[in-house]
Amino acid sequence: MISLAGKSVLLVIGGGIAAYKTHELVRLLKTRGAAVRIILTKAAEQFVTPLSLASISGEKVYTSLFSLTDEVEMGHIQLSRAADLLVVAPATADLIAKMASGLADDLASTALLATDKPVLIAPAMNVRMWRHPATVRNVETLKRDGLVLAGPNDGEMACGEFGPGRMAEPNEILAAIIEMLKPKAQPLAGKKVVITAGPTREPIDPVRFISNHSSGKQGYAIARAAVELGAETILVSGPVSLPIPPGVQMMPVETAQEMLEVCQGEMPADIAIFTAAVADWRVAAEAHEKIKKTGNAPPSLPLTENPDILATISREPKRPRIVVGFAAETERVREYAAEKLRKKGCDLIVANDVGRGSDVFGGDRNTVHIVSPAGVEDWPNMSKDEVAQKLMERLAQMLMPEQKAAE
Ligand code: PMT
Repeated sequence: MISLAGKSVLLVIGGGIAAYKTHELVRLLKTRGAAVRIILTKAAEQFVTPLSLASISGEKVYTSLFSLTDEVEMGHIQLSRAADLLVVAPATADLIAKMASGLADDLASTALLATDKPVLIAPAMNVRMWRHPATVRNVETLKRDGLVLAGPNDGEMACGEFGPGRMAEPNEILAAIIEMLKPKAQPLAGKKVVITAGPTREPIDPVRFISNHSSGKQGYAIARAAVELGAETILVSGPVSLPIPPGVQMMPVETAQEMLEVCQGEMPADIAIFTAAVADWRVAAEAHEKIKKTGNAPPSLPLTENPDILATISREPKRPRIVVGFAAETERVREYAAEKLRKKGCDLIVANDVGRGSDVFGGDRNTVHIVSPAGVEDWPNMSKDEVAQKLMERLAQMLMPEQKAAE
């Protein structure tokens, strides 16, 4: 029997008839040694009572966002932060819609929005509600956001209809919880991974700069995936507005020159991945004062080439064992990427089409082609997180033969 001792689950109970099954779920979790804190929505209180759940869980049950006593004991932000996993069961159509649109108007939805922990949802609703395009859309959104679903199952419902919409059984939800909480294999433990992300910003004068549309999402997703596989993860990031992924060592930079210096300072490393959209050029002479409009011809700004960070690191004496470049192309994607692989001296190029309408810059999804001396592998359209996980798993496998030989 897999133990959940030391793990903490925050169970959010929505207002549906299936709420009665959560007593059994809490009991099963307690048998495995997990600590279970519970939030009830207002509607859930019509189906189950705080008292019965407090008796089974041995913990206080939380119901109100505006309870001063609760906030003093355990603030609503802390409630979701203190958990290893959030479980929403039953996840009603209403709760799912709130989560998909980021609403936070009660304790349950606020805790769900405030978390950076994994979330498992066990949907339960009438079959027509489950099949309604709005619910289908909302569930897709949640899946894209990385939430995991347990169920729903097919079967007869409390309303007398038959079809998908029955909440998964407590033992099925428990199995999904165990799967999410069990320690993950960490093939990159003891390895150092350096990742560049975001744009660089090349100053023209104190108020203007040259930059591009990179949001940093792809690079940050790779950093998260590297941390998950146990790597010491250095994230060298240009200016973006993303939260720092937990577990990474953040090295903020502005210009290509700074990015190069920080990357060189981080060598040696086992793997380096260059996801950043580095400005190829900077102005030859940055003005120290704001360039004024004179009413004459606009100023000309001679450009000079920036250092190529990927090519430099690929040829360093302290070169990482695996160097990965990205290629952002708007045409002949595979062909240009293969050319970059040769020119820059890296081991792998992850090529993506950033042409108009592709939504790769700033978007949440990506379609990539893995270009190596062995050929080209086309990956399907995936979320940037999925691309990152698949890429990091591939790189961990590539490191392994050398590791085995060294042992
Ligand atoms: O940040 P997002 O919004 O999530 O978007 C992701 C992305 C489109 C930025 C990312 O997937 C991507 O394609 N990154 C590489 C962008 C780029 O600059 O491509 P490139 O083809 O111009 O450069 C090729 C490679 O050389 C890249 O690894 C780049 O980091 C590197 N390079 C480029 C110029 C330079 N002076 N130094 C470099 O190291």
